[in-house]
Amino acid sequence: MTETVSPMLVASVLPADFADLGRQVQEIEKAGVDRVQWDVMDGRFVPNITFGPDVIASCRGQVDLGFEAHLMVAEPDPMLARWVEAGCEIVIVHAEASRHLHRTLGRIRELGARAGVALNPATPLAAVEHVLDLVDLLLVMTVNPGFGGQAYLAGMEPKIAAARAEIDRRGLDIELEVDGGISTSTIRTAARAGARVFCTGSALFTGPGTMADSALAMRAAATGEIA
Ligand code: DX5
Repeated sequence: MTETVSPMLVASVLPADFADLGRQVQEIEKAGVDRVQWDVMDGRFVPNITFGPDVIASCRGQVDLGFEAHLMVAEPDPMLARWVEAGCEIVIVHAEASRHLHRTLGRIRELGARAGVALNPATPLAAVEHVLDLVDLLLVMTVNPGFGGQAYLAGMEPKIAAARAEIDRRGLDIELEVDGGISTSTIRTAARAGARVFCTGSALFTGPGTMADSALAMRAAATGEIA
């Protein structure tokens, strides 16, 4: 009997009420989510603009949940320390935004955080093949980054499966996360493809029941698919 690896749920704050962010993050924690994702956008790497490290720091003391910073920014290196100081235990940079990704990932670990790398839909897994030993979290985007509420790109599932196979083949301790359009239905096929960490925004905040109901339903759906 293979042990069921329980899926992890990560809440994107993108759909949250930014006028009441502290309480929204507390609601996320009460809903039984495992971590918070801060979708950092700079208006250059993606069209949208969101928030900086000071906003994250202002919420740090509101909850015990882990924070991950998803840096959808054109130049992540100058501010790496600021996200860690703001209370993020994981810092995720985009492979497409890092001229020297090997050095950037090593720097994140030197700062005491876990190093994550995200791949846009058009970016092949090969882009990170030679740095996976420096990666603690691989984020496969299942939408084009910049906005919440987009449709899940099922065409990313072969990439998810290839990432799962490579992580398992090399025996690497890497969280395989997906982000974009994750709901009770799409989480099933993403889990079947090999994802184990699921970032969700719209489906969590605007589900039919409470946030806890949505979290429970998505977790149950993913668990059912994990061998
Ligand atoms: C895209 C964002 C979104 C967000 C999740 O740049 O990163 O993927 O986290 O949003 P939903 O769950 O609404 O697609």
